[in-house]
Amino acid sequence: MRVLGIETSCDETGVAVFDSDRGLLAHCLHSQVAMHAEYGGVVPELASRDHIRKALPLIRRVLQEAARPVESIDGVAYTAGPGLLGALLVGGCVARSLAFAWGVPAVGVHHMEAHLLAPMLEPERPVFPFVALLVSGGHTQLVLVEGIGAYRILGESLDDAAGEAFDKVAKMLGLGYPGGPQLAALAADGAPGRFAFPRPMTNRPGLDFSFSGLKTAAANALRGLQQADGGIAPQCKADIARGFQQAVIDTLVIKCRRALESTGLTQLVLAGGVSANRELRERLRDEAQARGWQVFYPRAEFCTDNGAMVAFAGCQRLLAGQHDDLAVRAQARWPIDTLEPVA
Ligand code: KG4
Ligand code: ZN
Repeated sequence: MRVLGIETSCDETGVAVFDSDRGLLAHCLHSQVAMHAEYGGVVPELASRDHIRKALPLIRRVLQEAARPVESIDGVAYTAGPGLLGALLVGGCVARSLAFAWGVPAVGVHHMEAHLLAPMLEPERPVFPFVALLVSGGHTQLVLVEGIGAYRILGESLDDAAGEAFDKVAKMLGLGYPGGPQLAALAADGAPGRFAFPRPMTNRPGLDFSFSGLKTAAANALRGLQQADGGIAPQCKADIARGFQQAVIDTLVIKCRRALESTGLTQLVLAGGVSANRELRERLRDEAQARGWQVFYPRAEFCTDNGAMVAFAGCQRLLAGQHDDLAVRAQARWPIDTLEPVA
């Protein structure tokens, strides 16, 4: 089965063609980062308008790159949520219309399920059941994955998502949007251990997270360092970035360890935008080596939003005979543990 996948849930237009026999045939992405940068964050209406501009040219390009005629597409998958409603509607309308015109089924995909399954685009794939740590701009969740669509949330953030905390602290440090990768780059120049920020909720049982206090701790440290002229020495900013990143990573690693111990499982999937963080990947790799786990993550470009993960996830559901009716599905909120399992 050959599936066109379309991702438009936030600030990236991602399109891909996935073939269940041959794998990923083509994928391309347009990032809106430059457009939103001057506002310091995503402007939803601008995001929707840009998806409208980019969706069809990208689809044409990806079909050309896949070197397959339109008639060879067996189904169309699109991100139906969670995400920005206007942005979702653009991808949904384009996908649903193309599927109707081509006479093939369409399926609305859950964005976090697509992230969760993204490591399956790689040669080394996890085998069910496993534990997944989903860390993106909107979600931080530990999920017990028994099969496609069979998800039990073991723990999640009670306030800010890890990516959101990265973005907010980056903003305080005067870094641009999106803050996560820029904070990570700054942290590389920081002194380890100068700032010992808390590892929230690790001193009590359970698998939930809370990152908003950590963000406040970083803000307080920053305030304390303000010089007479109101500025802060660049090295201090780097040290704070290092301390903050270290605290987030330690917290995530401690909770992953707990989740694997409490479920008795040894495979861990790491997915979502923050899984692109090199320090986090290295820490989990070391931990896995020491404890006999296996860690799976997507290649760096498929950690953040992309069309390939949507084409893959949609393909699994279409192969199982699941598809939607003629309606365009778009849900700003959509809990992952309410999905229909794939038999
Ligand atoms: O999955 P994603 O692309 O979009 C959502 O579904 O939210 O994740 C975006 C988030 C942003 O908060 C971004 O700052 C964060 O992932 N991120 C990172 C890194 N790359 C992206 N955070 C820390 N380190 C990175 N290298
Ligand atoms: Zn995402």
